[in-house]
Amino acid sequence: MENITRRDLLARATAFLAAGAMSGFCPLRVTRSWAYNKTRKERNMKLPAARSTGEVSLEHAIQHRRTIRSFDSAALSLHEWAQLLWSAQGITGTGGFKRAAPSAGAFYPMDIYSAIGKDTVEGASAGVYHYEPKGHAVIRVSEGDLRAGLARASLSQMWMAGAPVNFVITAEYDRITGKYGRRGIRYAMIEAGHIGQNLFLQAEALGLRAGIVGAFDDKDVGRVLGLPKTHEPLLIMPVGYGR
Ligand SMILES: Cc1cc2nc3c(=O)[nH]c(=O)nc-3n(C[C@H](O)[C@H](O)[C@H](O)COP(=O)(O)O)c2cc1C
Repeated sequence: MENITRRDLLARATAFLAAGAMSGFCPLRVTRSWAYNKTRKERNMKLPAARSTGEVSLEHAIQHRRTIRSFDSAALSLHEWAQLLWSAQGITGTGGFKRAAPSAGAFYPMDIYSAIGKDTVEGASAGVYHYEPKGHAVIRVSEGDLRAGLARASLSQMWMAGAPVNFVITAEYDRITGKYGRRGIRYAMIEAGHIGQNLFLQAEALGLRAGIVGAFDDKDVGRVLGLPKTHEPLLIMPVGYGR
């Protein structure tokens, strides 16, 4: 992290929470997820097919990838959002289960959530969406624009809330520790890094920019977004057009 140490961020977060507690305002309000009341079919939104060709070379994307922390307010198209999700966890194998990022033993313990705002992705309403690799679709799991709450849960890195989409990469360790024991936790964390780099490079290839955030309170992120308790957030990637 540039210029800001983790200790600085923790101190700021503590001050912010203390101020909130004194004023009666709870910055880490628990969000009720409406979506679980609806049937899976009602909540399901099929995404446009991803492309496996593009205008930008891989070398260009690697050369120009940078962590950015300031975003234009322009919305992403549904295609751009879908393409980013595909790069993270899309099914790429002909057998119908291997994905864009590698996974130890092909157990795929990762899930991708997107926190989006009102009109920040064309054709999608504000909320938190779970990506379904099979079927290349999303399911809304929480409603409303929760990006500011997510930024507050990330030690008040409020710049995150300016990105049209915040991708949250989570791991469900049980899906991999059954086979690998504690070492499975290491494997899941490594897998998160692969997914993060795919998102970075796909964003560059689409003319978008990305940030990456590891400094957050795991439990608060889960509570704010309404994530299942077993889905542990490992990385957050704000993505949008650069300024
Ligand atoms: C695991 C990880 C966690 C990070 N967490 C944060 C963060 O919480 N906030 C932030 O502003 N940048 C964060 N960064 C971004 C780094 O500060 C950035 O990658 C580094 O300064 C190098 O710059 P570059 O990505 O532009 O090459 C993180 C990067 C990684 C890999």
